[in-house]
Amino acid sequence: MQYLRINDILSKEPLQQAIEVRGWLRTRRDAKDFSFLELNDGSCLANLQILASADLANYKDIVANLHTGCSLRVSGQLQDSPAKGQRIELLAQKIEIYGWADPEIYPLQKKRHSYEFLRTIAHLRPRTNSLGAIARIRSSLSFAVHQFFHDHGFALVHTPIITTIDCEGAGEMFKVVAPAEGMQHKAALKRDADFFGKPANLTVSGQLQAEVYAMALGKVYTFGPTFRAENSNTSRHVAEFWRIEPEMAFCNLAEDMDLAESFLKYLVSHVLENNKEDLHLFVKFIDKNLYSKLAKLVENPFYRISYTEAVEILQKSKKNFDYPVDWGTDLQAEHERYLCEDIFDRPLFVTDYPKDIKPFYMRVNDDNTTVAAMDLLLPGIGEIIGGSQREERYDILEARMLEMKLNLDEYRWYLDLRSFGTVPHSGFGLGFERFLQFVTAMKNIREVIPFPRTPGSALY
Ligand code: 4AD
Ligand code: MG
Repeated sequence: MQYLRINDILSKEPLQQAIEVRGWLRTRRDAKDFSFLELNDGSCLANLQILASADLANYKDIVANLHTGCSLRVSGQLQDSPAKGQRIELLAQKIEIYGWADPEIYPLQKKRHSYEFLRTIAHLRPRTNSLGAIARIRSSLSFAVHQFFHDHGFALVHTPIITTIDCEGAGEMFKVVAPAEGMQHKAALKRDADFFGKPANLTVSGQLQAEVYAMALGKVYTFGPTFRAENSNTSRHVAEFWRIEPEMAFCNLAEDMDLAESFLKYLVSHVLENNKEDLHLFVKFIDKNLYSKLAKLVENPFYRISYTEAVEILQKSKKNFDYPVDWGTDLQAEHERYLCEDIFDRPLFVTDYPKDIKPFYMRVNDDNTTVAAMDLLLPGIGEIIGGSQREERYDILEARMLEMKLNLDEYRWYLDLRSFGTVPHSGFGLGFERFLQFVTAMKNIREVIPFPRTPGSALY
């Protein structure tokens, strides 16, 4: 008897073979002399239909009492299914139960629950069709991320989760502290809970440490969790999110955008090819134009305009924005979406932002007022990537850091990279969850991360 997963059974259809499946019951329907069981094992969206005859020894005691959520092991023979809806089914010879799920209290009963309700049962929601599909797509895309960079000669660098620097300089960091008792070293005793002898935080970006490795290995990337303690309760923000950050030596801003564009096209092609069944669920229930939206991203070149051009377009438009548009202020989500949805109807890179609204590490342009920054805006999402060419000139970087009142002693190592064999280099950060929102058309970011962390809410 071979234990097979439903994905393999449905794709290979090993008919007339005696096999075993293991999974969770979705539904039971009773006819006169038998029951239909729909079993799902998480390997794919589809269920396997099981035909359980009333002749089974435990039919009355077990089978006839099975409910949604019970876990089962079923062995039997695969056969063509005479009825509509599925090509094959399993004729059960033996059904064993692993665990019951009391229908009085098991929360997943109705066919469709609201996403808001499902968030309150984050430990059970991956058993639903849509959250299960998202989990498989997320896993598939994680694999594709590594595949892409591996194929392009990048080395993966595990940048630290706990850090003593503030990459973005925005001060939106979670503090890392440890219980004071039991700490041996003097600094800890003096400063109560500083385990590392000085204040430490959860990282807001692996970029600065990735730069260290780019200056040694040439092309690197990091793919890990990042944390932001910003009080943003929107459908696009979570306090813990995953991000992909490549960093390339000998690379300018245009080449940085080239990489970002081919990377996104690769990921979207991957999902169109490898996750058809799961993707179709979102076409059916969330956005019927999803396929064409995804195909369009793959087929067309992205547009590129400067921040200054963007401001001109916005000011000329007759739109009534909530926030006014002035050269020198950051673009708001409404401006970004207007540009890439109404004006360009394409993914859009906006480049060369005023230096005063961007972090210290971005390379100052010859005009001395803008920096070699880029944001990628996607229709329906807004900003999905932020990146830049990095300031590689020691004097200019140091002056910028002083201007922004950074403590130079904390960044000596970063300045060292400019003292010893400095090179032009660039990189960017792709928010993995926002990208998953684009791919699945899910409206709220809380659905595309397994356990969302937002202000006032963190389950488990
Ligand atoms: O523009 P950001 O802040 O860029 C950086 O942190 C750079 N150090 C990246 C780099 O150059 N290596 O963030 C980049 C992306 C955003 O465009 C967005 O997709 C995502 O990270 N992001 C968030 N996603 C979910 N929730 C949040 N709170 C996010 N903040 C940023
Ligand atoms: Mg940004």
